[in-house]
Amino acid sequence: MTLPDPAPARDTSTDTDTAALRFPPGFHWGAATSAYQIEGATAEDGRTPSIWDTFCRTPGKVHRGDTGDVAADHYHRLREDVRLMAELGLTAYRFSIAWPRVQPTGRGPANPRGLDFYRRLADELLAAGITPVATLYHWDLPQELEEAGGWPQRRTAEHFAAYAALAGEALGDRITRWTTLNEPWCSAFLGYGSGVHAPGRTDPVAALRAAHHLNLAHGLAVTALRSVLPTGAEVSVALNLHALRPLSASAADRDAVRRIDAVGNRVFLGPMLDGGYPADLLADTAHLTDWSFVHSGDQATIHQRLDRLGVNYYTPTVVSATPGGAEPARADGHGAGSASPWPGADRVGFHQAPGERTAMDWAVDPSGLYELLTALARSHPGLPLMVTENGAAYPDGPGPRGSVDDPRRTAYLSAHLAAVHRAVAEGADVRGYFAWSLLDNFEWAYGYTKRFGLVHVDHRTLARTPRSSAHWYARVARTGVLRPPGVA
Ligand code: FCB
Repeated sequence: MTLPDPAPARDTSTDTDTAALRFPPGFHWGAATSAYQIEGATAEDGRTPSIWDTFCRTPGKVHRGDTGDVAADHYHRLREDVRLMAELGLTAYRFSIAWPRVQPTGRGPANPRGLDFYRRLADELLAAGITPVATLYHWDLPQELEEAGGWPQRRTAEHFAAYAALAGEALGDRITRWTTLNEPWCSAFLGYGSGVHAPGRTDPVAALRAAHHLNLAHGLAVTALRSVLPTGAEVSVALNLHALRPLSASAADRDAVRRIDAVGNRVFLGPMLDGGYPADLLADTAHLTDWSFVHSGDQATIHQRLDRLGVNYYTPTVVSATPGGAEPARADGHGAGSASPWPGADRVGFHQAPGERTAMDWAVDPSGLYELLTALARSHPGLPLMVTENGAAYPDGPGPRGSVDDPRRTAYLSAHLAAVHRAVAEGADVRGYFAWSLLDNFEWAYGYTKRFGLVHVDHRTLARTPRSSAHWYARVARTGVLRPPGVA
């Protein structure tokens, strides 16, 4: 997919000042989390270590040496957390299944105690009228599979398909919405390229091999899931698509956009939705690899019909043809490493988009979400979309009276929901929105320093306090109507 010519940044700040915006009936109002970021209980009930357990214990990799050992202790507080979701009026909850919990070491038989946890979670959700939406892989590869080569090895994709079948078979009676992978770009290019994520390798060829094997894992898993799930079940993938803008209108800067679009977006969209890798990506990376790890038949395996495409969006990406820029590179969205996460485009420069920033230093710019949704609606008509992650980190904690006021998060969510509404009004088939995140949690290499939760978590006592944004979001979810923040 090629994104449209980047439009000049549009000021959407007034979108919410106008009339109330009504969302289509049946629109899903959700929140999202992932296993390693909230569950804790990393050594309980038969779970084996994942690459994130190992990475957290590697000195210098994660801020202050934080780990997911306790996280938000969701493993032990699942009922309380589902109660919270019900109070917030959520109609759907996106979570991930920890591979090393349900299939320890990534191979062989299922672990019944691991599966039981997700059965209980699904049962609690269903009893509360909340649709469970399960992601099979949110970055927690069983450590043993990394030791056998990890995502750069083809076998990992085959193991993933077996895990998908096992999970689908065990949980498909309760869970009918499935997502194969969360943000394979991060798994491949941050995990094996820049090394800022687990397993922390810095090898551009390994990153490209990982990207292909993640694509293959997705395709194999879609088929495996469909063979075990009841009819009517829905299968999707969640991609962090980069909303790209050139620093200037020069031909060189526009070519930088093309390169990043190739290795940031079309490396997944091409094979998953269009049946093959884009020729320009192969040309841009020809000095690194001949792509002979793509076997005959792979592209057909990857190209499976999808019931939904999940879009994760936080901030746009501004690029130029020359390396560097006034601001440090933030394009990968999760901290800058010393190695590039962009094979074949590592001389491209990254720049801050203008405007207000969140605690991640990410610019607040809802027009990027609008552009992605409308571009996908144009390029892939008939493919329903979901915003599977969108949200902002702000540090707001309890005030003197114990309540937590976070007006900036409310403003962020409101402006982005207005952008979704605008895309829907223009014909994009967007079926739901999942705020990232339900709870403050373990934010990968940033440890516990970044807080994305609608619900504040005291990381010492683990007490949960819904922030004012949660109360605001509950009102939107209950009515299906977005009003300017502060208007009842
Ligand atoms: C996304 C990840 C999610 C969280 C948010 C802030 O890239 O999928 O786990 O880290 O960013």
